Amino acid sequence: MSLVTMQELLERAEQKGCAVGAFSVGNMEMVLGAVRAAEEAETPIILQIAEVRLPNSPLELMGPMMLAAAKNAAVPVAVHLDHGLRPETVHKALEMGFTSVMFDGSQLPLSENIRTVKNVVQLASDYGATVEAELGVVGGNEGEGKAHEVLCTDPADAVRFCDETGVDALAVAIGNAHGNYPVLPALRFDVLEKIHKAVSVPLVLHGGTGITPEMFRKCIRLGVRKINIATASFDALARSAKACCDEQDGAPNYFALSACEAAGVYENVKRHIAIFNMR
Ligand code: 13P
Repeated sequence: MSLVTMQELLERAEQKGCAVGAFSVGNMEMVLGAVRAAEEAETPIILQIAEVRLPNSPLELMGPMMLAAAKNAAVPVAVHLDHGLRPETVHKALEMGFTSVMFDGSQLPLSENIRTVKNVVQLASDYGATVEAELGVVGGNEGEGKAHEVLCTDPADAVRFCDETGVDALAVAIGNAHGNYPVLPALRFDVLEKIHKAVSVPLVLHGGTGITPEMFRKCIRLGVRKINIATASFDALARSAKACCDEQDGAPNYFALSACEAAGVYENVKRHIAIFNMR
């Protein structure tokens, strides 16, 4: 149907009182599985890739494929750069046609985060693209490397951040973390409620893998309009590929393996879309 901006999907989610799923992809099978699930559910999605994934899945190859999949999909799809770390990468994604970018300045001092995000908002406006930014620190780590300690978003900082940057969507830290949770996290719904009351922009929940449907619903009721899922899709692909290899016992077949990878991602995306669409 169409490649759309993330802003359009966030507005739709607001009207419907649901959240749009943002699904990370790292190869063609992930793109195919995610788009098939969205088409079957007749629900828009966001296809995204984080900067730390680019050594495995180069932007020059992934970007055009994600954009082509969005343009050919039977549902609206936005294409998003997740956790952009360098302004050059954000620029590259915008030049390629990404309809949304995140700049992650959460490790920077507040004033520097504000200054950099403000520049990204200005740049993205030349492309008609949506901008997401993060305040506070989401725990764990997207990709390899040292895990970050959770630092909850300060609602007063959130007001200043949104006012001064003009950002379109705000990723919050409320005890959520990237990767598989060792134990079910105790999300700070009290903090989320304060942020939701204080700012008017749609909120984003990172670290969606392992959050229960009830917790997702509560987050959606408290203003979360975009939910990121990465690890659950990567794990689903790996499990499905392993089962496929085990079944073929000694005579692995690439084409069967490719179909199994896509099917694993499809099942995971389908399950999450159903939860995010629940009212
Ligand atoms: P998970 O890997 O925990 O699903 O987090 C995804 C995410 O927030 C990507 O930015």
